Amino acid sequence: MTDLSRRAAAILTVDLGAVVANWTRLRDRVAPAECAAVVKADAYGLGVAHVVPALAAAGCATFVVAQFDEALAVRAALGPESPARVLSLGGLPQGTEAAFVANRILPVLNHLGEVAAWQRFARERGERLPAVVHIDTGMNRLGLGPDELDILANELDRLDGIDVQVWMTHLACADEFESPMSAQQLGRFQTALARLPAAEASFANSSGIFHGKAFHFDLARPGCALYGVNPTPHLANPMLGTVRLDARVLQLRSVDAPMTVGYAAAHRVERAARIATIAVGYADGYLRSLSGRGHVYVDGIAAPIVGRISMDLITVDVTGLPEGTVQPGGLVELIGPSRPVDVVAAEAGTIGYEVLTSLGPRYHRVYDRVSSGPDAR
Ligand SMILES: Cc1ncc(COP(=O)(O)O)c(C=O)c1O
Repeated sequence: MTDLSRRAAAILTVDLGAVVANWTRLRDRVAPAECAAVVKADAYGLGVAHVVPALAAAGCATFVVAQFDEALAVRAALGPESPARVLSLGGLPQGTEAAFVANRILPVLNHLGEVAAWQRFARERGERLPAVVHIDTGMNRLGLGPDELDILANELDRLDGIDVQVWMTHLACADEFESPMSAQQLGRFQTALARLPAAEASFANSSGIFHGKAFHFDLARPGCALYGVNPTPHLANPMLGTVRLDARVLQLRSVDAPMTVGYAAAHRVERAARIATIAVGYADGYLRSLSGRGHVYVDGIAAPIVGRISMDLITVDVTGLPEGTVQPGGLVELIGPSRPVDVVAAEAGTIGYEVLTSLGPRYHRVYDRVSSGPDAR
């Protein structure tokens, strides 16, 4: 335990071994298709500089981000010699063509204007340039819609000079296994591919992988499942948890009824209670919607968050815990083996993705196994 761990208000432990084990599990599931890793939003909050080298060492050869600057961060994490592919989903911002080529980042071309811009740049350079082309099969968000797909399929010379490495599309309802939408999108994607020149095809996100072989194509693009979010919400989570968040107890006080706790006097103490004040708040990405709804864990026992979550603090009713279990200076578990990300998300009225990508910069980060947690109680 370092001095920093000792004084840190909250400690975020990230288990890179679990991330790698999750990726390996998905890789084996999609084989012989390739398994990429979606590492946008700083690897869903876990830290791209740590996650990318760990996955690359395990054999991951394609990384996916949302924005060009995220792609640069992935390249930096991989090192200059790495042959890994880096895909940027957010298209080709005007005037960035040279930067994509210089940094070996593959733009995902999302409309015919970007296809034309990439072709123009390829002609200027006198070489074929690699890219991914996104076909919209039902998201109506990014990608070539039906009209643009028709034009492209009828005028394939629009691809001259472009080395289309991957045709991709994205599922709208992958985690709703009862929805007919996924099968509809599969049909649309297969029809589109039949009209286009041969290249790799990429369809499945994390949940999509669990729809079966027909969804795997050549390249799967899991994100959330790598980080422990359940890709099969109707079933037990097949993935390992990858993060643990512990926060410091700052004060413990006995409160006699009738009294209130915190901002807006939002919690009324109806009987004598022990309230622990914990050093985490919404400025850390600990979602304010957990006010009066969330729980923390101490030695395997749940204690409810009472009152409002404030910028730096939460208050927890620890009356139900054996006296002495919670001590100022000790730690309580907010996310971890006892409170998986999906459980915290459900309490907050959101999804695991938001809980992870909200993990704040103030946390003292430790890259270690999470099963035991920081030993500082
Ligand atoms: C285009 C695309 N592919 C793959 C993913 C990864 O999805 P998931 O985190 O659900 O696995 C995302 C994430 O939003 C995405 O936008």
